[in-house]
Amino acid sequence: MRWLRGVKAHYSNDRATIYHGDCIEVMRSLPDNSVDSIVTDPPYELGFMGKGWDASGIAYNPEVWRNVLRVLKPGGHLLAFGGTRTWHRLAVGIEDAGFEIRDSIAWMYGSGFPKSLDVSKAIDKNNGEVGRLLKFTFWMRTTGLTAKQLDAATDTFMGSHYLTSKSQPAIPTPELWSLIRPLCGNVPEWVDLLVERIAAEREVVGERRQRGRAEGDAPFNTASSPTEILTAPATPEAQKWAGWGTALKPAHEPIVVARKPLIGTVAENVLTHGTGALNIDGSRIGTDGGGTHCNNRDKNGKCLGHDNAGRSTSGATVHGDNSASGRWPANVILDEAMAAELDRQSGVSAGKVGMKQISGKVTFGVGGDINAKRFDSGTTDSGGASRFFYVPKANKNERPNIDETAHPTVKPLTLMRYLCKLVTPPGGTILEPFAGSGTTIEAALMEGFNVIAIEMTDEYLPLIVERIERYGEMLF
Ligand SMILES: C[S@@+](CC[C@H](N)C(=O)[O-])C[C@H]1O[C@@H](n2cnc3c(N)ncnc32)[C@H](O)[C@@H]1O
Repeated sequence: MRWLRGVKAHYSNDRATIYHGDCIEVMRSLPDNSVDSIVTDPPYELGFMGKGWDASGIAYNPEVWRNVLRVLKPGGHLLAFGGTRTWHRLAVGIEDAGFEIRDSIAWMYGSGFPKSLDVSKAIDKNNGEVGRLLKFTFWMRTTGLTAKQLDAATDTFMGSHYLTSKSQPAIPTPELWSLIRPLCGNVPEWVDLLVERIAAEREVVGERRQRGRAEGDAPFNTASSPTEILTAPATPEAQKWAGWGTALKPAHEPIVVARKPLIGTVAENVLTHGTGALNIDGSRIGTDGGGTHCNNRDKNGKCLGHDNAGRSTSGATVHGDNSASGRWPANVILDEAMAAELDRQSGVSAGKVGMKQISGKVTFGVGGDINAKRFDSGTTDSGGASRFFYVPKANKNERPNIDETAHPTVKPLTLMRYLCKLVTPPGGTILEPFAGSGTTIEAALMEGFNVIAIEMTDEYLPLIVERIERYGEMLF
C-alpha cells in the first residue's frame, strides 16, 4: 500500500493509486509537476438527488485548482466537466488559479429530460389557494419518506417538491400518487380528496410518454419512462399561459479545456516535459472500421497500450500509422440520439474533402459501442451532421452496483477513454481529484495510462475497486 507524506492510499497497484479523502488535503501531499494531465468530473454544485457533495462549493474553491496547477507538469492539459448552469464559475476558478483556458468541448446528447414548471398548471393549482400545496407537503413530511424514496417510487425528480416547506411545493398527479400512496402508511381521507380535486380541476385530454433518463446522469434506478398526463387549462389565466415553461431540455454538458502555462515554446515544453500538446491523430475517428484496436499485446492478449513509436494503440478511434486517417477531433461530441437527430434534420451531403463515409459500428472497448461512422481515406467525404465523434450515455452494465449502492452521475467509459487519450502523453499519469465510481480510473487504465485518483465519499470506494478489478480480469 502506498503512503504519500503521511496519507495512506485506500488502494494501489502498479498503475493506479486511490486516496480516500478531501482532494485539497490529499493533493497538498502530491509533489510539484508530477502528473501529465488532469481529467476530472467535479460536482456540478446543483445538489443533484439531494447529495451534499454536489452542493459544497468545492468545484469553485480556488484551492482545488491551485493545487491541481501545482501538481501538473508545465504545459499539461486539464479537462473538467461542468453543469450548463454552473460551469462559468468552474471555468473562472480554473483560470484564476493560473491556467490558460484553451477551449471548451460540448458533449451533446439526446436523452435529457426537461425539469420545467408548467406555468399554466401552476396557475390552476394555485387558483387563489397557495396554502393547500403546503398543507399537503407538511403532511408528506410526517410520513418520514425521503425525496430519494419518492423519486425512486415515481421515477421522477419531484420528491423534493412533495416535501418542501419552501419554494415550489407540489401535489402529485393521481398516477404518481398511486405509486407513492402504498409507502405512506395511514393516509387521511383529505389527502386523497386533495389529489383527486386538483386533478379534476383540469380536464384530462391525453397522455404522453416522457423520453430519456434511463441512462446518463440520471438516477440509476429509473428504468422506465414516466407518463405525463396532458390536461386542458381550467381558468382564463391558465389558458393565457398554456405552453409556457421555465426550463430547456438538457442536451449538452460543457468540458473546460485548460492548459498549465508552457515553459518556452510548445516544442521546447514538449521536449522537456512531454506535455503541452493534444493527441490529434490518436483521437481521430478512424478508418479500420472497428474492434478494440490494439497492436501491442503481450502473449496473454493484454493490451500494453502503446506501440513501439510510443503512441497509444487501444481504443476505437483508430489512428494507427496513417495520420491522415479520420477526422480532426472537434470541440463537439455527440451521443447516438443527437447524432441521429442531426442527420435526420441535415440529410446526407456530398463531400468535399478526401474521405468517404461508410456506415459501420465501431466497438469501443468493454461496455460501450459507438455507432460511429467510419471513413475510407482517399475518396469523397459525405454524410450527415453527425460526422463528429459520438458516444452513448453510460449503459447499465457499465455502472458498478454493489449491494444497491451505485453512483448517480456516472460518465460513459467511452467518453472518458477518448478524453484521457486526447490530453495525456503515452504512458503518462492522469490525476482525477473527484473519482466518483471511478470511470476516469478505468478509462485511464484501458488506455494504458497510470492514474492517481481521490474520492471523499466512503460508499463509492468499493465501486472504484470493483472497476479496477474488473479491468484486471479483462486482461487475463
Ligand atoms: C460528479 S461525481 C464524479 C462521477 C464520476 N465521473 C463517475 O463517473 O462515477 C463527483 C465526485 O466527487 C466527490 N467529491 C466531492 N467533493 C470532494 C472532495 N472535496 N474531495 C474528493 N472528492 C469529492 C463526490 O463524492 C462525487 O463522487
